[in-house]
Amino acid sequence: MPDEMVSVREVFNLDSDLKVAAFREADEHVPEVDPAYRFNHDVTLAILAAFTRNRRMLLQGLHGTGKSTHIEQVAARLNWPCVRVNLDGHISRLDLVGRDTVVLKDGKQITEFQEGIVPWAIQRPVALILDEYDAGRPDVMFVIQRLLERDGKLTLLDQNRVLDVHPGFRLFATANTVGLGNLNGMYHGVQRLNHAQIDRWNIVAALNHPPAEDEIGIVLARVPELDDAAGRKLVASMVSVAKLTRDGFRVGDLSTLMSPRTVITWAENIGIFGDAGKAFQLSFVNKCDEAEQPLIAEYFQRCFDRELEAPRTSGYLPAEPHPAAAFAVAAG
Ligand SMILES: Nc1ncnc2c1ncn2[C@@H]1O[C@H](COP(=O)(O)OP(=O)(O)O)[C@@H](O)[C@H]1O
Ligand SMILES: [Mg+2]
Repeated sequence: MPDEMVSVREVFNLDSDLKVAAFREADEHVPEVDPAYRFNHDVTLAILAAFTRNRRMLLQGLHGTGKSTHIEQVAARLNWPCVRVNLDGHISRLDLVGRDTVVLKDGKQITEFQEGIVPWAIQRPVALILDEYDAGRPDVMFVIQRLLERDGKLTLLDQNRVLDVHPGFRLFATANTVGLGNLNGMYHGVQRLNHAQIDRWNIVAALNHPPAEDEIGIVLARVPELDDAAGRKLVASMVSVAKLTRDGFRVGDLSTLMSPRTVITWAENIGIFGDAGKAFQLSFVNKCDEAEQPLIAEYFQRCFDRELEAPRTSGYLPAEPHPAAAFAVAAG
């Protein structure tokens, strides 16, 4: 169990005298500290409550706003072991609870039960993050339902086993929606969630697009090469473009918006391609419907006071003779 109390003022820069439980030593499952991560005040308090008071927490918000990393980075600072399972795509009930597998022992084939991630995690002081919780398949949601229902126990039905839940086990989930389905058309594959299940999360917090000042700070923390007067001005313009795409999305002019993750990628790509317009094309514009690209170019023009150059369609390089041809001549 946690073996020390740490001050949130010292560890997270929070303006509070609160002390929270933490581990003195980090084991192999503690995420690495990302010194550039900037914590959101309210979300940090909620996550800390979930850790310290053993509350199950759901963190909801648009994509790329830092939900998964937020929980992970709090765990990193508390030395709390933490594992993430992404529920989108192909995770099945058996991946979570475990399955019988055939193994070789002393030259003989035997069938052995291989524990899944859920029984493994609940028996340890581990924070389990169910990422993309609203994309989980129905059979997966059924397992989670049992996990949420438990009071101190989890029954493995197929195994006829009842597992005690470790007092240091913590459960988190992240989701793009609040379980009402794909209302804005952005989140293909999300499910509508059973409200009896939503009801069982003790804390539901939200993390959405930060105010411009904060977003600029986040980008500069991620891409410190831009942290001078000119760079700050550049990033401020980038964040204004991002805001225009979000406003455009809200009123239905655009079907794609720039997430904070996209703004960070754009900033990184400027370092690679040397030009904000070119990097913008490659980080965002090409992800958008062609019919919407003129409007996005206009947003760029408004914030940068220059036109967004259209990508060249000509410009193929002359072909070189294939190296194999030279080899054939030499060998011949
Ligand atoms: N507050 C922040 N400080 C530093 N980096 C951030 C912050 N928010 C998001 N990021 C970065 O943006 C990217 C997306 O974060 P992620 O946690 O994957 O988002 P989500 O789970 O909400 O889709 C990550 O590379 C993360 O490091
Ligand atoms: Mg995530």
